[in-house]
Amino acid sequence: MANTIIIGMQWGDEGKGAETDRLSENSDVIVRYQGGGNAGHTIVIDNKKYVLHLLPSGIIRKGKINVISNNVVIDAFNLLKEIDDLRKMSVEITPENLAISDRCHLTLPYHLRLDELNGKSVGTTGRGIGPTYTDKVSRTGIRLCDLLDLSNNELNSKINENLSEKNLLISRKEWKSTVNFQECYEYLLKARDKISPFINRDIGKIVLEHDGSLLYESAQGTLLDVDLGTYPYVTSSNPTIGGAFTGTGVWVDFNTKLGILKAYTTRVGNGPFPAEQVNEFGERLRKNGFEFGATTGRARRCGALDLVIARYSARVNGISEISLTKLDVLSSEDKIPVCIGYKIDGKNIDYFPAYLNKVEPVYQELDGWRTDITNARRADELPKEARDYIMFIQEFLGVPIKRVGVGPGRDQVIEIFR
Ligand code: GDP
Ligand code: IMO
Ligand code: MG
Repeated sequence: MANTIIIGMQWGDEGKGAETDRLSENSDVIVRYQGGGNAGHTIVIDNKKYVLHLLPSGIIRKGKINVISNNVVIDAFNLLKEIDDLRKMSVEITPENLAISDRCHLTLPYHLRLDELNGKSVGTTGRGIGPTYTDKVSRTGIRLCDLLDLSNNELNSKINENLSEKNLLISRKEWKSTVNFQECYEYLLKARDKISPFINRDIGKIVLEHDGSLLYESAQGTLLDVDLGTYPYVTSSNPTIGGAFTGTGVWVDFNTKLGILKAYTTRVGNGPFPAEQVNEFGERLRKNGFEFGATTGRARRCGALDLVIARYSARVNGISEISLTKLDVLSSEDKIPVCIGYKIDGKNIDYFPAYLNKVEPVYQELDGWRTDITNARRADELPKEARDYIMFIQEFLGVPIKRVGVGPGRDQVIEIFR
């Protein structure tokens, strides 16, 4: 049994979905353990593009068990749309291959409204994520189990208690967008009818008692972690490794802690980004890497690879090996800057600071290769400069790079140094 956890080492969009899809071939159970519809995981198979938000990226392969565990927050309408869209693309989704924890919290219409009104300074995805997690921690949230276990009266009073508090908050900002009872009640009834067949009472049992291998898929990235990321410009859950245990309710010994590292850096939304490149290099990265959000369509901010961030992520998550993704996107560069240190007030610092806004990045320039590498399938088919780029990162981090992505397709990956 080889258990693997996949974790984003930057600010999300590193290519976690594509790697989860590839590695799910040899896994039996694929688990999404945090986040919600804020995630956008794109998978390309035979030029067909699948975009997943809530469903684990093992769902496309037949014969796998996919689990959405307790710390994932669910907008029922979005989940149902995602299931419908995938079924139209001939993906089978049944209670045989999808189990959703009854402990998952639901995103209701008032969460969406609050996120719309309050999420602007962070630049959230507008999917109600922060307000849903806020209710979870405030102990006022509505969970999937409530749809099965509460009487209509109990459910009604839960909705009403929430509405009186939330509408007060909403009306302070914009009275027009308050939410009515009917909107919420209908939302929950629809969720109950359509999602009930997938609701599972004991997710931990599936995880512990399966035969074969587990594959955990995080959403977002280490720098978006609410505790360990660039607070307050973060999401509201723990994508880092600790979140996998509270997020599923069981402890698992991961043989492989696979960090997904993009060969450069991107960020969506606001907040500090020391290696950001607001110049032609950054524009080329956006264009060549097609860096537009899979959930919101926003242009992603682009920058150089930041190895200070990568080293921090490797430490936080105990990363045992790395998949370096999107190396092909750098193929038109003569020289490639890489951030190898931070200064504050002109002095090198040897710690990862709580705020990155005062940091000045220190760069080293590496040679580019200016050759198309999208058809390379073995390390020795890569130009020397590309191999040097990989080795530089590996040596800096002290973590082996075992896989390199050279394109979005399922087969566009090089397994190296094994
Ligand atoms: P995730 O949120 O971490 O799953 O990443 P996204 O799916 O949001 O963004 C990664 C994007 O890059 C997707 O469109 C993938 O299809 C694409 N992708 C993944 N790996 C590679 C790669 O090695 N090269 C290129 N060019 N694209 C890739
Ligand atoms: P995947 O799984 C990139 C960012 C948002 C915003 C901040 C908070 O595709 O890597 P939220 O809606 O979570 O309250 O927004 O987090 N963000 C992501 N950025 N990839 C994601 O997911 C993200 N999920 C949230 O842009 O800055
Ligand atoms: Mg994404």
